[in-house]
Amino acid sequence: MRSGERGDMGAMTNDIAPIGLLTGKVVFITGASRGIGEAAARLFAAEGAAVVLAARGTAALDKIVGEIRADGGVADAVELDLADRASVRAAVDRVEELHGRLDGAFNNGAAIQQPGPLDTTSDDDIDLQFAVNFRSHWTAMNAEAALMRRGGGGAIVNTSSIGSRRANPVLPAYGAMKRALNSITESAAVTWAREGIRVNGITPGGTDTRMIEEWEAATPGVVGHITATTPLGRMAEPREVAEVAAWLLSDRASMVSGAIVPVDGAAGA
Ligand SMILES: NC(=O)c1ccc[n+]([C@@H]2O[C@H](COP(=O)([O-])OP(=O)(O)OC[C@H]3O[C@@H](n4cnc5c(N)ncnc54)[C@H](OP(=O)(O)O)[C@@H]3O)[C@@H](O)[C@H]2O)c1
Repeated sequence: MRSGERGDMGAMTNDIAPIGLLTGKVVFITGASRGIGEAAARLFAAEGAAVVLAARGTAALDKIVGEIRADGGVADAVELDLADRASVRAAVDRVEELHGRLDGAFNNGAAIQQPGPLDTTSDDDIDLQFAVNFRSHWTAMNAEAALMRRGGGGAIVNTSSIGSRRANPVLPAYGAMKRALNSITESAAVTWAREGIRVNGITPGGTDTRMIEEWEAATPGVVGHITATTPLGRMAEPREVAEVAAWLLSDRASMVSGAIVPVDGAAGA
């Protein structure tokens, strides 16, 4: 099915015209060098945000930034290693240098673990999962909230996973860190509510990105299994996940905070 066509299994969104959903907002996006984060950067910019893209892959970021600017958008790149707390804080500092404020943050970057049951998951994998998929978001949210507070509020969206919702025998460390991310998402929403900062999470199901390609390479048949167990009958396109983050970051979602929103074609229902 081509993007934008309406089929039996849900419409895709690539051809939907922007409506200025994020006009005037400064939005920081991690994991923006590819996949869901790249789609978010392009979508948020098209919806009127000034975007700051972060990841380790600076060549990829620079290319995306160039394309967004060529389309008339406002975009900058900052190098970020989520495993390094100082790097996370420095990236948010860079947003302040560039724009003097922050209205939205999409904490989306993450790494997949070597698949396997928990008794074969290595110590290195657990440490990496903790640092990249959990601690980085803790550090980022605190830095982001400090900057948002000075501007009178903002909105944060954290990318969790359908893999956080139940037992996850195949990706146990990944699932555990994503569930921990859900917990701090809810805690932050309650803690910062009176300061005008909304905090939400999204739990994508199978989404057509390099992360799934890596999982398929390690465990052939995963894509077929995900497709077969997703009631909408297909994986998501990255843009479809980004659309939900865009809405949660927008003023249209002004009463939504502390929610963990599935974006999974009913796979978790
Ligand atoms: N694809 C799915 O089916 C699926 C399902 C559920 C949830 N998710 C979640 O969706 C989010 C986006 O994943 P994706 O599918 O778009 O994966 P992806 O294509 O592999 O992209 C991952 C992004 O995270 C960045 N990243 C990874 N490690 C990093 C590090 N140490 N420091 C800084 N950036 C790092 C990568 O950039 P660099 O390598 O350039 O640093 C890249 O931009 C993740 O939180 C993932 O857990 C995905």
